[in-house]
Order: sequence, then C-alpha cells, then structure tokens
Amino acid sequence: MSIESKDELTRRLSGRLAGKVAIVTGSAQGVGLGIATALTRAGARCVVADFNEEAGEQAAKDLSTIGPGASFVRCDVTKRNDVDATVAHAIDAHGQLDILVNNAQRAPFELPTIMEHTDEIIDLCFDTGYRASFHFMQAAHDELAKTGGCVINIGSAAGLDGQYGQAAYGANKEAIRALSKTAAREWGPEGIRVNIICPLAKSPGVVQLLEHDPGFEARVTKGQPIPRLGECEDDIGPVAVFLASDDARYITGHTVPADGGACMIR
Ligand SMILES: NC(=O)c1ccc[n+]([C@@H]2O[C@H](COP(=O)([O-])OP(=O)(O)OC[C@H]3O[C@@H](n4cnc5c(N)ncnc54)[C@H](O)[C@@H]3O)[C@@H](O)[C@H]2O)c1
Repeated sequence: MSIESKDELTRRLSGRLAGKVAIVTGSAQGVGLGIATALTRAGARCVVADFNEEAGEQAAKDLSTIGPGASFVRCDVTKRNDVDATVAHAIDAHGQLDILVNNAQRAPFELPTIMEHTDEIIDLCFDTGYRASFHFMQAAHDELAKTGGCVINIGSAAGLDGQYGQAAYGANKEAIRALSKTAAREWGPEGIRVNIICPLAKSPGVVQLLEHDPGFEARVTKGQPIPRLGECEDDIGPVAVFLASDDARYITGHTVPADGGACMIR
C-alpha cells in the first residue's frame, strides 16, 4: 500500500475508537501488529503484549507515532502472572480497558498427521491459544464490564475446515470459538461483546511457511473468490476496528472470516 493510501486508511478509521484502550496479544508482528496498528489509527491506545521484547518495544514505539500512544508489556501468554500483570498495566498506564484481542498463538511448523501428534504439540497449541485466551478473558472481565467493552478472539480456517495436519491447532481454534460463544451468552447482559476473526494474511509466520513450502500460496488461494493472501493491517485490521466499534454494538458470538472468501461458514 502506498503512503497516500495509508493516509486514506487513517482518514477512514480515524476517531472510530477515540478514547478506547486495547490489549492486543502477540502484536509484535503479523496479524496482531496489523490489528494494533488499525486500532491505533482508529484512535485507541494499545498495549502490545508479546514475549518478543525487542520487536514488541519497537512496535509500541511505531504505534505511538501514528496514534494517541501505545505501550509494551513483556508477556508470555502461557504464564498466568504475566496475563494478570498485562491487564494491571493497561489500567495503571492507560486508566481503563475497552478491547481485548487474543491473537498470540503458536503451532508446529510442519503439518503433523494425527498419528504423528505428540502431547507436546497438543500442549503447545492449547496453552498458547485456548488456555491463554481463557485466562486473559477471566483477567479482563471486570474491567471490560466497567467499560462495556469487547473481546476479539482469533480462530482459523484450520479449525473451521478441519484442515489436514492441523488436528491440535484446529481443535484449539474451535475450542476458542466455543469459549467465545459461551462468553457472548454469559457476558452479553453485562454489556460485553465477544466475537471471532478467522484471518488469512501474509504475516511473518506465513512468510516463513512460504519459504519452507513455495507452493503453499498457490494451493491456499486456488479457487478463492479474492485470490490473494491478505495484508495484516489493511485487510484484517479494519475488521477488528469494526467489531470493536459501536457500529458492531448488536453483534456478538459471531465468527467473521477475513480471508478473501476462502472459507464460507454455512
Ligand atoms: N496469518 C494467517 O494467515 C493466519 C491464518 C489463520 C489464523 N491465524 C491466527 O492469527 C494469529 C496471528 O498469527 P500470525 O500469522 O500473525 O503469527 P506470527 O507467528 O507471525 O506472529 C505471532 C506473534 O505472537 C507472538 N507470540 C507467540 N507465542 C507467544 C506467547 N506465548 N506469548 C506472547 N506472545 C507470543 C509472537 O512473538 C509473534 O509476535 C494467530 O492466532 C494465528 O493462529 C493466522
């Protein structure tokens, strides 16, 4: 995207989340950074929560140059103390919490079949995804109830479609969707909305995969109505802005695939 169209994106998003405070986990790079950047362009102050200290510090600095301010917290989402400390930081540094985006996730690089899966792989997927999202939601609940805030969790076509070699990762993503729907029901009366984005985007994680498997992009986008991989900030970020904004105030418990039509939920 050219500089002019970044300005255009800022104009389009500007003010839609003015005065809001967000935590975005795993936002040192990729989809998380794309979402944090779009939220920032929309006027939110973002807490970059990531275990990559160098990239996370840099991300927060960069965000501060395009919006009302951001901060970095070194957070390993698998550690309950780090989760609690991140929510406490949002309140100490920014005074409130309106938006929680549970984006951090790890998964095996290879695509192990079910018979090749180990307990370590299952733990890696569920600890960084489902369990971490659960813990962050518990830690953030009271603050989100005060502000009438929202949660955006991240699912995947790997779960929606039950993709080959994604047994633990995909099941973990479907567990996150189930958690989100239950939370939408339990927390809706308290004014907290919970939705899910299933992205497809050229993050550093996906670029690494492309280097390892050059045919991946053509295979993934074959037959896709919009036949390209998405951009983290331009294609995924604005969807998060919409879901976090008052424009989506009547939407909860839903899954939005932001994937060029790759996966159509029926
Ligand atoms: N990129 C895609 O096409 C795609 C497709 C479907 C789902 N997703 C989902 O989108 C999210 C982001 O994916 P991505 O492609 O940007 O990944 P990525 O690997 O490029 O980035 C992941 C980020 O999470 C951080 N992280 C990982 N483990 C962490 C931990 N324990 N504690 C704190 N931070 C941690 C990393 O440091 C990194 O900054 C994930 O939930 C992923 O499952 C992505």
